[in-house]
Amino acid sequence: MKTYLVTGGAGFIGSNFIKYLFNKYKEREIKVINLDNLTYAGNLENLREIESKEDYKFIKGNICDKNLLESIFIKNDIDYVINFAAESHVDRSIEEPEIFVKTNIVGTQNLIDSAKKHWQIENEFIRGKRFIQVSTDEVYGSLGNEGYFTEETSLSPHSPYSASKASADLIVKAYFDTYKMPINITRCSNNYGPYQFPEKLIPLLINNCLKHNEVPIYGDGRNIRDWLYVEDHCSAIDLVVSKGRLGEVYNIGGNNEKENIYIVEYIIKILSYMIKDMNINDKLIRYVKDRKGHDRRYAIDASKIKVELGWKPRHNFEEGIISTIDWYLKNRNWLQNVTSGQYEKYYSKMYLDKVSR
Ligand code: NAD
Ligand code: DAU
Repeated sequence: MKTYLVTGGAGFIGSNFIKYLFNKYKEREIKVINLDNLTYAGNLENLREIESKEDYKFIKGNICDKNLLESIFIKNDIDYVINFAAESHVDRSIEEPEIFVKTNIVGTQNLIDSAKKHWQIENEFIRGKRFIQVSTDEVYGSLGNEGYFTEETSLSPHSPYSASKASADLIVKAYFDTYKMPINITRCSNNYGPYQFPEKLIPLLINNCLKHNEVPIYGDGRNIRDWLYVEDHCSAIDLVVSKGRLGEVYNIGGNNEKENIYIVEYIIKILSYMIKDMNINDKLIRYVKDRKGHDRRYAIDASKIKVELGWKPRHNFEEGIISTIDWYLKNRNWLQNVTSGQYEKYYSKMYLDKVSR
């Protein structure tokens, strides 16, 4: 039996990953400990279907809490750490960078250091252990009209979020270079799918349309992101855990570059077909102030993980987006719960700021 310590497992990708593991592996093959301090983005609702499993355990706590990490490693023989825990939203990092430094940099260093301490016998790492840092393509910065990010592209982050993720990557790599710590770093492009918090473009757009609120597009709407269905990100991480070469970085992406305006118009069109009586149409689109330091284009070259590990995405965008929209339509209560209270206040303040030119 392999024991995973998944951090940030109550968030969007982490919760999808935990469910992916329980779907893929048989009972008694794996045990999952989910460590999450349930920020606004963490939600135990995301894990209802697996919470009663014998081999699943939730611990509410912060990756910055060294004593807690120490006790988790003492009580459990952890084989794999998969570090999803992070502050993940670029707009928030522009407003409040400090928490990004704490969680994404200091938290990651605490976590890798606890793992290092418990995974060595007489300065040798025990075989089979692995620390996966779930990073992002944003660490590479922004592309012009041509070219792709490869694992060799130099790091050039622009937002406090991406700078904090790049810093964490360098720390994790330093643990490999210095101590031969068994690590991998994965850098994925934009994910979409069920359980994504509706501050991110796709669920925000669906949520706003369902409430017949305006959909804000930053700047000219021509920024490009490379979209991947979340389950394909999970399958890539799972492969890196089992087959990735130690110390290596793996880019993950869907070869699915789209301008933001294309995404917005496309989803509005689908929603207008699916819900006839709500008058959802392009008139909901509102161009607003651009994001500060807005990266223009991301595009991933994922040939390394494809060739070396045999990964390929199973979902194309058209099919992935339909199941995503369908999920949000069937889970309006979830949307309602996560957007009420604090989030509503945050969103209206941010929205007012964006529309006031
Ligand atoms: P998310 O914001 O939905 O979830 C983050 C989770 O981390 C939440 O459950 C939150 O409660 C938890 N968390 C935050 N701070 C914590 C702390 N100090 N201690 C313990 N738990 C904490 O984020 P996501 O979109 O699921 O992203 C997960 C990871 O994947 C992040 O590291 C992000 O940088 C990376 N990533 C995201 C994308 C994407 O498109 N969403 C793409 C590539 C990489
Ligand atoms: O590339 C991977 C990254 O993708 C992850 O590391 C981040 O955690 C994740 O948040 C995401 O970052 P982005 O900034 O690309 O995602 P976001 O959904 O915030 O924005 C996508 C694009 O849409 C971006 O160009 C900004 C634009 N946008 C976003 C929002 C929320 C709008 O035009 N209007 C909006 O309301």
